[in-house]
Amino acid sequence: MIPINAPQIGEEEIEAVAEVLKSGVLTHGLGMGPMVTKFEKAFAKFAKAKHAVAVNSGTAALHLALLGAGVKAGAEVILPSFTFVATAEIVVMAGAKPVFVDIDPETYDISPKKIEKAVTKKTKAIIPVDLYGLPVDMKPIREIADKHGLLVIEDSCQAHGATYAGRPVGAFADAACWSFFASKNMTTGEGGMVTTNNEEVAENMRVIRSHGEKEKYKSTMLGHNYRMPEIEAAIGYEQLKKLPKFLSHRRRNAKRLTTILEKADKLQLPREPKGYKHSWYLYTVRMKNANAKRRDKIAEELRGKGIGVGVYYVNPIHQMPYYRKFGRYRLPETEKASKQVLSLPVHPGVTVKQIDFIGETVLNMLG
Ligand SMILES: Cc1ncc(COP(=O)(O)O)c(C=O)c1O
Repeated sequence: MIPINAPQIGEEEIEAVAEVLKSGVLTHGLGMGPMVTKFEKAFAKFAKAKHAVAVNSGTAALHLALLGAGVKAGAEVILPSFTFVATAEIVVMAGAKPVFVDIDPETYDISPKKIEKAVTKKTKAIIPVDLYGLPVDMKPIREIADKHGLLVIEDSCQAHGATYAGRPVGAFADAACWSFFASKNMTTGEGGMVTTNNEEVAENMRVIRSHGEKEKYKSTMLGHNYRMPEIEAAIGYEQLKKLPKFLSHRRRNAKRLTTILEKADKLQLPREPKGYKHSWYLYTVRMKNANAKRRDKIAEELRGKGIGVGVYYVNPIHQMPYYRKFGRYRLPETEKASKQVLSLPVHPGVTVKQIDFIGETVLNMLG
């Protein structure tokens, strides 16, 4: 089976982990150990941000960013429903209410045109998601946010290496959140990061990350244990060095797959609009006119041929049992996309020969 994504780990990561183990410094009481600090510095440079705060998951990164930026209980936060559940989960964890907005059917990202109608007096923040690794159209979102005095916390968990208007994703947001889960473009096993140019938000986040402590046993605010262990930071540091190579492999694979699949009229292929650079975390096609049953059947048949197809996401969040209590939504583009999309492997471990096999197999089945 060619998996949809797979961690790319080499001797460098193994050696780096061994070094940490030998050093005996496995973590740091305030989350600021030497490897974590080194990784944060390198990641801030990569994201062209002033500050990077390392944590132990992308979910923790999102939660921390909301708390650090001052989203409080009772606030409303605007986000897409077509995303991983963590994007909504952390809004609820912060005591706020998720307000779901429909997507653009071409990009699958939140539709900037539909955001403003969802703004109320209680709205405090917008969380756009760079879904599948395609940057969200941030300029209109930034304008709406500035007009209404809202924060923008970008969920860039799938978008390492993606750029928008010539800048790394996150550049137009108040904070950007990244995941290093094992499937991501770069990994630490589990892990996350928040990048921001706002000194005060960064300082808040560092304190909240470790029990609200600036100094040990002197909590000044409610905190969590979101510290990244030193071993993870050592892996992340090595992975970041390899990221450009990983990204160019993904890009090469995506380009080749597009060349093959362009012949299939029944498929809508992923786009990379002018001024955008995709991270190619997921190569997602849409089976035009299909229903969920047909899509699922094709996905199963492809798996039967050894192609590890993924479907992101079969259930939009507003339709999940727990999240129904936040309102009755009708999000036609989100609901339609959730029935028609499927993702094909393009990760750096997929060879050109395998891409040809994936492309030809899909073409034969859907052509
Ligand atoms: C869009 C999105 N948001 C949030 C997360 C949460 O990240 P993590 O799994 O590292 O907690 C993920 C990844 O799983 C994601 O893809």
